[in-house]
Amino acid sequence: MKVRGVTSNRAGVKKIDVVIGTRPEAIKMAPVVKELRKRDKFLVRVISTGQHTDMLRQALSFFELSPDADLSIMKRVQSLDYITASVIAGVGELFDSGCPDAVLVHGDTTTTFAASLAAFHRQIPIGHVEAGLRSFDMNLPFPEEMNRTLTDRIAHWLFAPTEMAARNLRRERPSEKNMYVTGNTVIDALYSALDIVEGAAWASASPALSGLEDSPFILMTAHRRESWGEPMERICRALSEILRRHEGTRALVPMHKNPAVRDTMKKILGDNDRVVLCDPLDYPDFVRALKRCKIILSDSGGVQEEASALGKPVIVLRGVTERPEAVESGTAIIAGTRTRNIVNAADRLLSDEEEYRRVEEKKNKNPFGDGTASVRIADILEKNFARSVVY
Ligand code: UD1
Ligand code: UDP
Repeated sequence: MKVRGVTSNRAGVKKIDVVIGTRPEAIKMAPVVKELRKRDKFLVRVISTGQHTDMLRQALSFFELSPDADLSIMKRVQSLDYITASVIAGVGELFDSGCPDAVLVHGDTTTTFAASLAAFHRQIPIGHVEAGLRSFDMNLPFPEEMNRTLTDRIAHWLFAPTEMAARNLRRERPSEKNMYVTGNTVIDALYSALDIVEGAAWASASPALSGLEDSPFILMTAHRRESWGEPMERICRALSEILRRHEGTRALVPMHKNPAVRDTMKKILGDNDRVVLCDPLDYPDFVRALKRCKIILSDSGGVQEEASALGKPVIVLRGVTERPEAVESGTAIIAGTRTRNIVNAADRLLSDEEEYRRVEEKKNKNPFGDGTASVRIADILEKNFARSVVY
């Protein structure tokens, strides 16, 4: 385990451990880390569980961050039990040696829940960023709905991204005082990437994007655990069928590093010369693709939020979403994983100009925040820091 020490003798300075493990946690916590580090009230240690390796490093590099401690737990095939047990033990040791005053976690991964439990065991107050998202189905997404519900149960500060998420929390913890609506930090991250992307030439992007500048293309990502196998095959077949029906349209598919996902994508889409299958893109390149593509097909949570902010139609490859705001705002269409439903949803958007424009106009109604969520979170921590928390 690599550990870079963070110590403070300054009176009143609070030590905060930010625990991350996967790509979306890196992207969504980077703005929080950067904001906390601007303030002399905090000493921040970034702990990576290493649930993801290269994808986490890639995401952090855009923000010029690297972990201060890295548990490097990732294996080629990793069970939920393995991730949970390794994170609890590894992060617990780091909490014991570093004695943080608070721990911040994000979202709904197994890293999130296991790190929260380790903090809870030591009665260290936990701040949960992106609290309150609910699909109300424990199996969808799996195991994320359970992870976020339990994390919200034991967290001290609940940072809800939207009013709807806060309402979910109020139902579960009606007398909770430490609950705040902050916006989603993904919008902070998105805006910082847009600052770079908007001024940069397309030619400077990843080679995977070359050739896509002038042609309409579909951007697809899919990785959910409950979609491995047959559902993923149906998703890939839907993309093939959409391309067959819409001549002149191409597809860009940055593949998640999980072999269970890549093998299926390569098997079904590998020979299609209108599909660019590539490795995960650097964050600014992915944002470029989000901006430039015609439509998005995705089962990702973060992508639904980003698409909403950009006014880009996203066909959600899941039967249910914990981000109903994206559906209400009109940018997200729930299609599930049935080939026919995905194809029909794409047909409507690619054939009906007016329908497409109606969605594009929704970007002014972005429900996920204004790009200042991390400032709000840092302000709240500065004003309300608890010395001790009694459960
Ligand atoms: C995890 C999270 C999911 C989140 C997703 C973001 C859990 C249970 N799942 O799912 O909530 O939406 O991350 O992407 O917490 N791999 C690499 N290199 C990497 C990353 C992954 O090779 O940098 C491969 C490894 O073979 C690894 C596999 O992908 O075993 C799966 O990773 P894992 O974190 O278990 O599941 P994800 O599907 O990535
Ligand atoms: N992303 C990226 N490169 C890619 C694909 C996605 O940087 O090639 C970013 C995307 O912009 C979003 C995040 O990764 O912010 C979503 O991560 P993922 O889909 O892995 O997880 P989820 O959001 O579903 O938990």
